Amino acid sequence: MPKVNLSVDGKKIQADKGAFLLDVCRDNHIPVPSLCHNEALGSDGRCRLCVVEVRRGNRTRMVTSCLFPAAEGVEAITQSANIALVRKTVLELLWARCPESDEIARLARSHGVSDVRYQKDNDKGKCILCNLCIRTCESVVGVSALGLSGKGPVKKVTTPFDEPSETCIGCGACAFVCPTGHIQMWDKEGVRNIWGRKFEMAACAKCGTHFAPLYQLEYISKTSGASMDRLRTCPDCR
Ligand code: SF4
Ligand code: FES
Repeated sequence: MPKVNLSVDGKKIQADKGAFLLDVCRDNHIPVPSLCHNEALGSDGRCRLCVVEVRRGNRTRMVTSCLFPAAEGVEAITQSANIALVRKTVLELLWARCPESDEIARLARSHGVSDVRYQKDNDKGKCILCNLCIRTCESVVGVSALGLSGKGPVKKVTTPFDEPSETCIGCGACAFVCPTGHIQMWDKEGVRNIWGRKFEMAACAKCGTHFAPLYQLEYISKTSGASMDRLRTCPDCR
């Protein structure tokens, strides 16, 4: 991979050409806040929290670092009055959209937002429409049980026709990646509840712990060829 030389906050850095600036910052222990970025999935630039300033030649502009490719001679700044103002505004808007979200409240307060001046939504739950759950379900799990429905203010993440999804395997990966805790999932008495469906949990053949939905194990067995005998033993006992 060809390398490029750039600087972040005055620190000289060598990075892979085309690596995204947010990843370059994190690899070099330079903190940049984000909500819609995931190490495995990258980002599609939805939250706008990761803004930084970039100078090339005489030109300085504000960019979303999760989508800005590292290039020779780039000078990036991760903290400035302008950046702080944009991040505060983004967080204030997200907090107004999701007043129930503890994570957004925590981030907002840590960026100096003590209250929300905008009208608060009371129908969005904790969802910021970051798309991580949809992308995880599609590209990592491979089942595409989730999607976006509606437009404008009624746009939301849901299952097809808002019905319990036939294709969902109950793996919970969507709930795991969700940065705001919007997706409700709970396991009780050997049953997992998620997206309006109930999944019987498999008990480990050795220790008896309920560790994964049986349906998920059957899906893995079918797609990977692994035997159900092996899959029915929990990772700790394998
Ligand atoms: S449910 Fe969570 S992961 Fe999915 S779009 Fe909303 S905030 Fe993002
Ligand atoms: S992390 Fe860059 S826009 Fe969300």
